[in-house]
Amino acid sequence: MSISKAVTSKITSPENIEERLQIQRLLGATKIVVPSAGSDVVKGLTQTPKSLPPCYFYDDRGSELFEQICDLPEYYLTRTETTILQQYAGEIAKITGACELVELGSGSSSKTRILLDAYQQLGYPLHYLPIDVSTGILESSAKQLLSDYPLLQVHALAGTYELALAQLLPTQLPSRMICFIGSSLGNLTAGECDVFFSQITEALQVGEYFLLGIDLRKPKQILEPAYNDNQGVTAAFNLNMLEHLNQRFEGNFDTTQFEHWAFYNESEYQIEMHLRSLRSQIVELHALNLKINFALGETILTEISRKFDFNTIKQQLTAQGLLPIHVWTDPNQWFGLLLTQLQA
Ligand code: AVI
Repeated sequence: MSISKAVTSKITSPENIEERLQIQRLLGATKIVVPSAGSDVVKGLTQTPKSLPPCYFYDDRGSELFEQICDLPEYYLTRTETTILQQYAGEIAKITGACELVELGSGSSSKTRILLDAYQQLGYPLHYLPIDVSTGILESSAKQLLSDYPLLQVHALAGTYELALAQLLPTQLPSRMICFIGSSLGNLTAGECDVFFSQITEALQVGEYFLLGIDLRKPKQILEPAYNDNQGVTAAFNLNMLEHLNQRFEGNFDTTQFEHWAFYNESEYQIEMHLRSLRSQIVELHALNLKINFALGETILTEISRKFDFNTIKQQLTAQGLLPIHVWTDPNQWFGLLLTQLQA
């Protein structure tokens, strides 16, 4: 066997994949993030108006439904951000130079491949740190990536963003870029956003990068169908939260007695997703020792999805020391990608 053949077979062998993969379960990490075993559910369902934390969307079925949402014709977000990345990943890589890629909420890591391709094409070493609450998703997508990128090193962190950002070790590469794409920032309130940005700045060294994908403001005729698709996938995703609570907290929510309701709140620039009770009813979550009364038409807020404008977000980032150095968008200006750099 020639030397080059021997090297190639070592690189692509399964043993070598294990050598290039490290999965670290962070202290306090569980498969699904449930802060203090349901106290957030009790709090949300006993206040007026009722609400539930969006982390309860993501059990196995919820994650599957979210993947389906990303492919819906009405849900322009994923498609548009992917197109921007495909067009500009090379530019991003040229600006940052060789750097470690940290991805928050990596999921299936499908968009990451576009960035990895760009860094690989420039001959840079590939170091990837995906962060996700699901160890299963981290492991399966990391293994797939490692078999597709023979020189890639993956250090996966299983846990919340907060835990992972607080525990990042200094990178061995010249720089680091934390990626938060998919407009998940929109699911945080303005106050949560500020806390999140300060966690990012704590995790970065001066001169390192933060790449942010955001959904931009646009007419509600485009926004509302994205959260009220014709096939009812978003409705199923929303209602699945109740199934998840049933299973997790021994509940008896009857999902046929609630309906999905999503609309664009134009004064707050946010989509609001609710579950509306179709009758007056009492629901119990036995494991939480909780009985909840619903009036006919009463709603539970399950998610906000904020829509941004470049100027406001740039100011917010700058105020936190994250200087926007480049902005990319699509021809319709529906979605934005911002590259920022931590200032001294
Ligand atoms: C994860 N996040 C960016 C999605 C969004 O659009 O806010 C969640 C979602 N909810 C309903 N459809 C998609």
